[in-house]
Amino acid sequence: MDAKRKVQALADMAAYVAQAIQKEKGHIKIVSHFDADGICAGAIIYKTLEYLCKDFEITFIKQLGIDEIIELSHEHNSMLIFADIGSGQLSQIKEHIQIPVVVVDHHPPDTSCTWDNLYHLNPYHAGIDGTNEISGAGVAYILARSLSTQSKKQIDLAIVGAAGDRQCPNGKFLGVNQLLLEDAEYAGVIRCEKGLKLFGRYTRPLHKAIEYCNNPFIENVSGNESGAVQFLSELGITVIDKKGNWRRLCDLTADEEKKLSTVLVVENVACGGRADELIGTIYKLKNDYDVMEFSSVLNACGRQENPLFGLKMCLGACGGVEDILLEYRKKIAKGVSCARNMKKSFVVTDKATYIIASSRIDENIIGTVISILLKRDIKTDICVGFGCVKGGKWVKVSVRSKSKAKGVNLGEVVRKVAADIGCGAFGGGHSGAAGAKIPKGSDMRFVKLFDAFL
Ligand code: C5P
Ligand code: ZN
Repeated sequence: MDAKRKVQALADMAAYVAQAIQKEKGHIKIVSHFDADGICAGAIIYKTLEYLCKDFEITFIKQLGIDEIIELSHEHNSMLIFADIGSGQLSQIKEHIQIPVVVVDHHPPDTSCTWDNLYHLNPYHAGIDGTNEISGAGVAYILARSLSTQSKKQIDLAIVGAAGDRQCPNGKFLGVNQLLLEDAEYAGVIRCEKGLKLFGRYTRPLHKAIEYCNNPFIENVSGNESGAVQFLSELGITVIDKKGNWRRLCDLTADEEKKLSTVLVVENVACGGRADELIGTIYKLKNDYDVMEFSSVLNACGRQENPLFGLKMCLGACGGVEDILLEYRKKIAKGVSCARNMKKSFVVTDKATYIIASSRIDENIIGTVISILLKRDIKTDICVGFGCVKGGKWVKVSVRSKSKAKGVNLGEVVRKVAADIGCGAFGGGHSGAAGAKIPKGSDMRFVKLFDAFL
């Protein structure tokens, strides 16, 4: 089946789910995932319920474990809508929640589980690969379109969600995401252009964009404002225009951008990066952010325990995000250097590298830290990080691979390992990125089981 027919099949299923929401007169609670995709999915549904004048609220959660489900079961809601989360936890939801439940998710579903009050929208049921072809925000958008024609305006968030979930290998969207992108371009909410992919292209003074850039990391320039100004002036690029305004990357002449690109590509190759990864398509949003950049801003909001700020940004608010980003950059830099200092205690097998930082690196950033380390510091294709969870009873596990395409579905493996560990451990995710929560002290058991499963 081609992508268009698959989308139609998903839209038909969405119409059925939409009816249940339309009929609901009581209080609806949206429960969405706290990452960039979850924030976009939540924002799409939030805006749609607003169009429909529903009585509703929204909350964002890190994971949907048994504790969260039981807490929700004690609240006084008439309907729950889970977004970008829930498809893998159907049996626990069925056991504890009596009110109607809508699940709008793209994680592999627990297909055997269903009940009368469940309205489940999942791309796998329409033959769509939820790991690469559509995000939680994409599925939320398909549902929203069924609920209100006004929701078509939120199509840009479907693409931002996909970027947040790394559904953009080598800068290209595939399958349903590609169709959604074409619609978004047609609607004029995303504009594509080719150029140097540096965050802040339209939003920051160029020297700040260079200063904040870690990819490539340039000695005495990355993280160093005056170093970045000097770097540009040595290339003959002025940082201030004739009117006295800071110049942004988008203000450079074609020749200036080419000169800068050449130097950055050389630096990137010297750091072990690919020659072609810095140049490509830039997807510009109406709020002047590039899609990749905006997804990373939302991700930072979620990981800084401020997903509501991300929601507001999705709904059109601007300003005030710099403090969150600055704090986040500091935390990541600290986490990366902490992990690098632990190099001698990494457990390395022929399949994966395990970084047991359960008492040192926070659960919110361990995933990002191992993603950065995978680029240069780690030789194996897979890296597993263990981070600390407040309260001391649990350990957070994040798993990332360099390439999705090696035939291993990390989400599946992590789910099985967590089930084998038991004692409330749970996990899952996608083929290239997965995570779990396991009881404190079971780190080495996770390592053994995970390595054996691989
Ligand atoms: O937290 P982290 O970014 O490492 O999570 C990666 C992915 O793993 C999430 O997007 C989610 O799909 C999955 N995950 C999960 N259960 C957890 C933690 C993460 O299914 N307890
Ligand atoms: Zn997602």
